[in-house]
Amino acid sequence: MIRIAVVGLGKMGLSHLAIVKAHPDVELAAVCDASGYVLGVLKKYTGVATYSDYERMLREADLDAVLIATPSRTHASMVRAALDRGLHVFCEKPFTLQTSDAEELTALAGNKGLVTQVGYHNRFVGTFAEVKKLLDAGAIGDVTHVLGEAYGPVVLKAKGGTWRSRKDEGGGALYDYAAHPLNLVNWYLGEPAGVGGTVLNSIFSHEIDDEVHGTLLYEGGASARISVNWSDESYRKMTTRITIWGTEGRIVADRQECQVYLRDTAMIPEGYEPGWNVRYTTELTEPVGFYLRGEEYSAQIDHFVTRVKDGRVDGINGFESAAQTDRVIAAMIADAGKAATAVAPDAAAEPPRARQRRRRLRLPWLVSQPAPQSAGPLENRKAA
Ligand SMILES: NC(=O)c1ccc[n+]([C@@H]2O[C@H](COP(=O)([O-])OP(=O)(O)OC[C@H]3O[C@@H](n4cnc5c(N)ncnc54)[C@H](O)[C@@H]3O)[C@@H](O)[C@H]2O)c1
Repeated sequence: MIRIAVVGLGKMGLSHLAIVKAHPDVELAAVCDASGYVLGVLKKYTGVATYSDYERMLREADLDAVLIATPSRTHASMVRAALDRGLHVFCEKPFTLQTSDAEELTALAGNKGLVTQVGYHNRFVGTFAEVKKLLDAGAIGDVTHVLGEAYGPVVLKAKGGTWRSRKDEGGGALYDYAAHPLNLVNWYLGEPAGVGGTVLNSIFSHEIDDEVHGTLLYEGGASARISVNWSDESYRKMTTRITIWGTEGRIVADRQECQVYLRDTAMIPEGYEPGWNVRYTTELTEPVGFYLRGEEYSAQIDHFVTRVKDGRVDGINGFESAAQTDRVIAAMIADAGKAATAVAPDAAAEPPRARQRRRRLRLPWLVSQPAPQSAGPLENRKAA
């Protein structure tokens, strides 16, 4: 049995807790949360050892691994403390907020030979994994462009009060939403050479970005566009979609299905044919022992537990690959501050948000002036 502690019992931690508790190879050895309420309930109904102090839990509990699902700012220090004690670590995404932490922790885990994983669950979704298989098989030839999208209804009015609305806590659509398509694009194309044209825009929030757009540029000429908006009420829940153009076809995938167009000159993979093909999540997904929210959440925990059991350091979503995503996020943040190439010098001098506000307020210079009355016709009438 692998003895695991779950740290952070909020939205994500409670989901992990249920999956871990149902796993036949796991003993839930301890839980930790800064707030006493959930701890009290868990202690009363499950008898599990509860801690409000993470360091104390690490000192006292007999553990093989920790599963960290606390607000993103806390990940780096918690991961470091666990690795220092020789524990295997599953950490929620984004891995860290500072690329220097990501590099250091990746090296530390590597030196200690510990199993690491970050919660980029989309790599365990059957349709997105099928895309990876098709690309590795060269099914659509050379990839020229990728569009990575994520939309959903998280912030629909100005609000605050949680860590998600604070920049230094790791709030914002870039860390919360865009991290997912970025991680998938990294999986498919590798790490980009550069980023450009990044837009981090607030729509309703005061301090953080609600929409993210930007371009990733690859050596050899391929590019990827990221389009993310968590203030989009037209989506019922978060929806992630990837579209990939290649010289021999195109792939469009979301959680539900993987649509593949193959030219008749393509190397056709087994089970596919030239023209349109559709594979559904129902045929691409392996059953899991315990279903919660989607098979991918259980599948990723199962992958982690199996690796810990087998002492297998290599695997899906190790710290190294999550550090790659952290680096792209950091590059986009740096890029977002840069000036754009001016189209018309006067228009570019003013930031777009200021222009938008001026338009909403209908300040005089933007309100179209009535056309000057032409004196000609009247004079002509008088003269007639
Ligand atoms: N993979 C995904 O799809 C996904 C989805 C949601 C959240 N997440 C990630 O999971 C993490 C948690 O997000 P959430 O939505 O569950 O947040 P949340 O606010 O719902 O829960 C966070 C919990 O951590 C606890 N906590 C805070 N500081 C602590 C500390 N120092 N010690 C112990 N407990 C502490 C809080 O009391 C709270 O119960 C974030 O990193 C987030 O980005 C990932």
